[in-house]
Amino acid sequence: MLKMESIHKRFNGAEVLKNVDLKVKKGEAVALIGPSGSGKTTLIRVINGFVLPDNGRVVVRGKEIDYRKKDELRQMRKRIGMIYQLFNLVDRTSAIDNVVSGALGRMDRGFELISSTIGLFSTEVRERAMELLNFVGIEDKAFERVDRLSGGQKQRVAIARALMQEPEILLADEPIANLDPRTSQKIMELLTKINRERGITIITVLHHLESVRDHFHRVVALKDGEICFDGRTDCLTREHISSIYEFAGEYECAAA
Ligand SMILES: Nc1ncnc2c1ncn2[C@@H]1O[C@H](COP(=O)(O)OP(=O)(O)OP(=O)(O)O)[C@@H](O)[C@H]1O
Ligand SMILES: [Mg+2]
Repeated sequence: MLKMESIHKRFNGAEVLKNVDLKVKKGEAVALIGPSGSGKTTLIRVINGFVLPDNGRVVVRGKEIDYRKKDELRQMRKRIGMIYQLFNLVDRTSAIDNVVSGALGRMDRGFELISSTIGLFSTEVRERAMELLNFVGIEDKAFERVDRLSGGQKQRVAIARALMQEPEILLADEPIANLDPRTSQKIMELLTKINRERGITIITVLHHLESVRDHFHRVVALKDGEICFDGRTDCLTREHISSIYEFAGEYECAAA
C-alpha cells in the first residue's frame, strides 16, 4: 500500500527526516509517535505529497510518486484522506456541506469547478454525506453550522468528510490533541472501526501513549528525524519510551 525508501528532508539546512524507511500494508493501522519536532508531521506531509523529499522514493499502491507532476499528485491525494488536530472545517457552513465538499476531490476538474461555484451537488452525493454523518454518529447535526459544534462533533464531521473521498489511506495528525479524554476515546474508537470495518489503512500521529496501546497493534517512533522503533505496540517497553522521549520518569508512569 505504502512504501517509503531512504527518505531525507532538510529545512533550511536542518535534517528533519533522515533515511526513513517505512512500509505499511493495506488495511494496517499504525500509530506514529515521537517528541515534538521529531518530524512526524513532515513525514505525514511527504506521504500526502505536500512536502517534497530531498532524496528517496515514496510508492503508493505500487506507483512511485512523482512530486513534480501536479496532476499525478492530485490523483494520488484523492485516495488519501486527512484529519487534523484543529479539524480544518469551513466554519459558518453546515456539517453536511462540509462533508459534501469531501466529494470534490473525486470529481473531474470541470465538474468540480462548476459544482463548487454554483453549489450544485447531486441528491446522491447528499444522501451519501448523510449516510456518513449517520455512520459517525451525528446525523442530527447535519444542518447545524460547524462553528456551533463541540470539538468532538467537529472531528466527526471531519472524519465523515474524509470518508466522502472514499480514501484508501487515512492520515491523521494528532486527531485528539484538542479533545477531552472521553471524547478522545470515542474518536479513537471511531477511527478503529473505520479501519476494521472498511479496511482503510490508517496512519495516526498521537501523543497520548495510552491511546496508542488501546487502539494500535503497530507503533512507529521517530526521534530526531529517524525511525527508532517500528514494531508491535506490546513490544514497546518503558526503556524504549524513555529513550524515545529522553526523559524517563513522567512518561514511564503515564505509559505503565
Ligand atoms: N515548512 C517548514 N519550513 C521550515 N522548517 C520546518 C517546516 N516544517 C517543519 N519544519 C521543521 O522541521 C522540524 C520537524 O517538524 P514537524 O512539524 O515534522 O515535527 P513534529 O514531530 O510533527 O512535531 P510536533 O509534535 O510538535 O507536531 C521542526 O524543527 C520544524 O521546525
Ligand atoms: Mg506535528
